[in-house]
Amino acid sequence: MRRTSLRLCAGALLAASAPALAQTDPLVPTGRWSAYQDGATTLPPMGWSSWNAFYEDVSEEKVLASAKIIVDSGLAAKGYRYIDVDDGWWLKRRQPDGRMLIRTATFPSAAGTGGETSFKPFTDRLHAMGLKAGIYSDIGRNTCGQVFTSIMPNMPEGSVLEREVGLYGHVDQDIALYFRDWGFDLIKVDGCGVRGLPASEPRVRSGQYRAFPPLVDVESVGHSDIAAVRGLYEAVDTALKRYNPDKDFVYSICLWGAADVRAWGKDVGSISRTSEDISPSWSRMLHNFDSVSRRALYAHPGSWNDPDMLFIGTGDFDPQHQAEAQSHFALWAMENAPLFIGYDLRKAPKAMLDLLGNARIIALDQDPAGNQAVLAYDSDDVQILVKTLASGDKAVAIFNRTAAAAEAVLTADHLKFTGDADIALDDLWQGTGIRFRGERKFALAPHQTLLFTAHGTRTLATGMYLSEQPGSVNPAVDGVTVPEHEPLIHRGILPWRGTRGDGDHPRYGGWGGAQPDGTPYGETLQVAGRRFTTGIGALANSRIEVRNHGFATFSALVGVDDSARDRSQPVRFAVYADGRLRGQSAPMRFGDPVVPLRVDVRGAKIIELVARTPSAMRFPDPVSWSEAALLR
Ligand code: GLA
Repeated sequence: MRRTSLRLCAGALLAASAPALAQTDPLVPTGRWSAYQDGATTLPPMGWSSWNAFYEDVSEEKVLASAKIIVDSGLAAKGYRYIDVDDGWWLKRRQPDGRMLIRTATFPSAAGTGGETSFKPFTDRLHAMGLKAGIYSDIGRNTCGQVFTSIMPNMPEGSVLEREVGLYGHVDQDIALYFRDWGFDLIKVDGCGVRGLPASEPRVRSGQYRAFPPLVDVESVGHSDIAAVRGLYEAVDTALKRYNPDKDFVYSICLWGAADVRAWGKDVGSISRTSEDISPSWSRMLHNFDSVSRRALYAHPGSWNDPDMLFIGTGDFDPQHQAEAQSHFALWAMENAPLFIGYDLRKAPKAMLDLLGNARIIALDQDPAGNQAVLAYDSDDVQILVKTLASGDKAVAIFNRTAAAAEAVLTADHLKFTGDADIALDDLWQGTGIRFRGERKFALAPHQTLLFTAHGTRTLATGMYLSEQPGSVNPAVDGVTVPEHEPLIHRGILPWRGTRGDGDHPRYGGWGGAQPDGTPYGETLQVAGRRFTTGIGALANSRIEVRNHGFATFSALVGVDDSARDRSQPVRFAVYADGRLRGQSAPMRFGDPVVPLRVDVRGAKIIELVARTPSAMRFPDPVSWSEAALLR
C-alpha cells in the first residue's frame, strides 16, 4: 500500500536552515496569484461531449451531426463551442515510432495516404463552423474503456504495446500531435491507466495489458500517491504550454475527485473533475453537486471545479422531469461548472434545447466575476446558494433536494443585504418580479430549484466581504497537512455496483479546506464566544491569496477559532500587499478575543493572508479571518 504524501507543513519547514527556508517555505508571500491561468478558461468552458450521448460508440458522423445542431439551434452562439470526442476514437499506437493512429472506419476523414491518419480535416471542419475541438486521452498507458469495460465497441487493437494509447511515456509526442499537428483546442485526461491495472488484475495476469502499480484509489485518498499523480498531470501542462504558444487551450483533468485533486486541481489544470462519473439519476446528481458545493474557494477564472457533464435529456432529467432537469442545469450554473451537453442532440425535443439555451441561466454560469456560489443555508433537505455577480447583484438558488414539497425562508442576511430596505427578486424561470423586506417564505415542489437575481442594499455598503468574492480568493496553502475525506457528500448507490459490497464510504480529500463564511470543518466561525456569520475560515499555517480589484483597505477581526482542538500553538496573523508585510497581529492563543487588522492595500494587486504557528502542527487548528473584507 502506498502512503499519502503530505502537503508541505510550514512549521516543519521552520526548522530548516534559513536559506533553504526562503526557497521552500510555502507561507512566504510571493506577491503572485498561483492558481492556474495557462489556458483559455477565463470563463467556464461550454460545449458538447460524445460520452454521455454515445459512450464509446462514437463516430465522426454522430459528432458532426451534433455539432451542426449546436450551430443551427443557436446554442453555439450562446456559448456552447467545444465539441469533444471522448473515449473510443483510436485504433492503435503504431510501433515502433509510437505515433497514434485514428480509427478511420468511424472517422473516415482521418484517412491519409500510406496508412497515415490525421484529425486535421475533422478539426478544420469544426473550426470552419466557428467551433472548437476537444480530444480525450489517459494519464496512464490504457484508458477507462479498456480498464473498466469488458466488451465495448471501438477498443484499441493490436499487440499489448499497440493498445497502449494513453499518454504515459508519450506525453510530449502525443500533445504535439494532438495540438500542434491536428489542431485540437481541448484535451480531457482521464486517470484509469494509473488506477485499475495492478499485477493481480485478471487482464494483466492473462497478458492483455501491462501492469501499472496503482497510484490512485478513488475510494481512498490514503491509498493514493498524491505527489506522483500530480507530477504526471503537471507534465501534461508543460507540454500543453510548449505546443500552444498562443495559450488557446483547455486542460481538463479527469481524476474523479481522487488523489486529493479537489485541493490541487486548481493549480494544475483549467477544469478538474471533483467526483465519480455522473449518472442520469437524482441521487448521483446530488453526489456530484455536493462534491463542488463546499469548494467555492478552490475555483477561479482559469481553474474551475468540474462536477462532470450535464445529463439533461436522459433518465431523471428527461423531458418528463422538468423540475429535475431545471435543477440540474441551475445548480451547474450557480457553481460555474463547465457546461458540456451529453445528449444525442439528433433526438432532442425543443423543450430541452430551450432549457439548455436559456440565456439567463447561461449568464449565471458565465458571469465574468467568476464567483462560485456559496452555501448561505445548508441542510440535507433545502439549500440556499448565493453568488455575487459582476454587477454587484446576487443570484440566489433555493434548492429542494427532497422528493417531498418543502418550505424555505429566504432572509436578507442570506444575501448580505440589509433587512430594512426593499429587496427586489427577478425570477429567472418565470421572468416575474417579487419585492420583500427582511424575509420571504417560498413553497418548493419536490426537487424544485427557485432561481432569482436579487437587488438590495448591501450590509457592507463600503466594500465587499471576501466570502462574497471566492473567485478572487485562492487558498494557495490551506493548511491541510493530512488530507481527509469529506463526509458531507451525498452517497447515492453507484449504478454500476448496486448494493454489492459494504456500501459507499466518505471519499475524496478536501475536508478541512478553507471555507467562505464557515470553519474548515463546516461550523459557524466563532472566536472567544463571539460568532461571525461572515469571514474566511482556514487552518493555521495557511496562506491565502486575494486579488485586489482597486480597494484601499483590507480589514478583518482575527483569532483562533473556538472549534480548535489542539490549542498548543499561538497563531500570528499577517497581511501582505504585493509581497510586502503591511500589518500583523501578536501571537494569538485559543480563547483570546479577536483583534482587528486594518491594513492599507491601496494600489496593491495581490493581498496575502498568512496565519502561522511557531512550530509544526500535525493537525493545525482552525483560524478565523472574521468579517474579512476589502473596503473602498
Ligand atoms: C471515465 C470518465 C468519463 C469518460 C469515460 C470514458 O469514466 O470519468 O467521463 O471519459 O472514462 O471511458
